[in-house]
Amino acid sequence: MIAPRFKEVIEKHGYEVVVFDRSKVNIDSDIAVKRFLKAVNPDLIIHFAYGRIKWTTIMAKYAKAHQKKFVYVSTVNVYGDNKAGNLLVNSPCLPNDEYSRYKRAVEEAVLKTNNEVYIFRLGWQISPLLETHPNNMVSFMKREQNEHGFVLANQNSYLSVSLTKDLVEEMTRIIITMPPDIYLFNSNFSLNFYDLLVKLNDLYHLECVIKAEDGPSFNNLMFDDRVDLSNEFFSK
Ligand SMILES: NC(=O)c1ccc[n+]([C@@H]2O[C@H](COP(=O)([O-])OP(=O)(O)OC[C@H]3O[C@@H](n4cnc5c(N)ncnc54)[C@H](OP(=O)(O)O)[C@@H]3O)[C@@H](O)[C@H]2O)c1
Repeated sequence: MIAPRFKEVIEKHGYEVVVFDRSKVNIDSDIAVKRFLKAVNPDLIIHFAYGRIKWTTIMAKYAKAHQKKFVYVSTVNVYGDNKAGNLLVNSPCLPNDEYSRYKRAVEEAVLKTNNEVYIFRLGWQISPLLETHPNNMVSFMKREQNEHGFVLANQNSYLSVSLTKDLVEEMTRIIITMPPDIYLFNSNFSLNFYDLLVKLNDLYHLECVIKAEDGPSFNNLMFDDRVDLSNEFFSK
């Protein structure tokens, strides 16, 4: 979902993008992965995919050996049970489900292999063009609406999110101009989940029925003043 949008943006900055095609390169073969990297000789490797950790660390190791940039695309979910908000780069990660444990394990393995990497922790993505994609807020809203006739939205929940179109621009800027580090990508600093869904419903004319729910407190808002994802849409 995100990678094709990122490709469009980074190509505008003069990069030629080579896709890691799993139908052509066997990611379960360390030799095949290394051979592919050698043949392409990339200046930058950006890893959006899932898959086995060893595959990721081979790429991170290659980047270190050849002094190339390596980006691992991670998620706010690595903070997991740490849900009191105000999440910073060094806030404790308390992953609490299979997905977040996997993403955190990859982060740790990558950092162990190569301490000069970029790790991008993303909030939930918003893109109206990707309605059919399951891992996107707009498709979530449509799915809930179709299934229940409404979308239930917790007023006590504050989630890190961003518009994918803003995200890919800012990722590109950071890769080109900033040093390797962990970066946090979030545009939302004030809207609760209910307010956010109401605004998205209006913005994209989704015609969903948004119902407020007084659920448990949850806050995974990330703050990183090196990352500029400001967008008026997220103001109250
Ligand atoms: N979407 C969000 O809201 C969001 C939020 C926070 C973080 N992220 C992170 O951003 C990254 C990209 O997300 P996305 O939503 O763009 O994901 P996506 O569209 O599902 O793309 C994931 C990619 O991983 C590949 N993949 C899946 N299983 C694999 C496996 N076992 N081995 C190797 N490759 C595999 C998929 O290839 P095939 O298509 O061939 O299966 C696909 O190209 C992910 O790392 C995700 O954790 C996303």
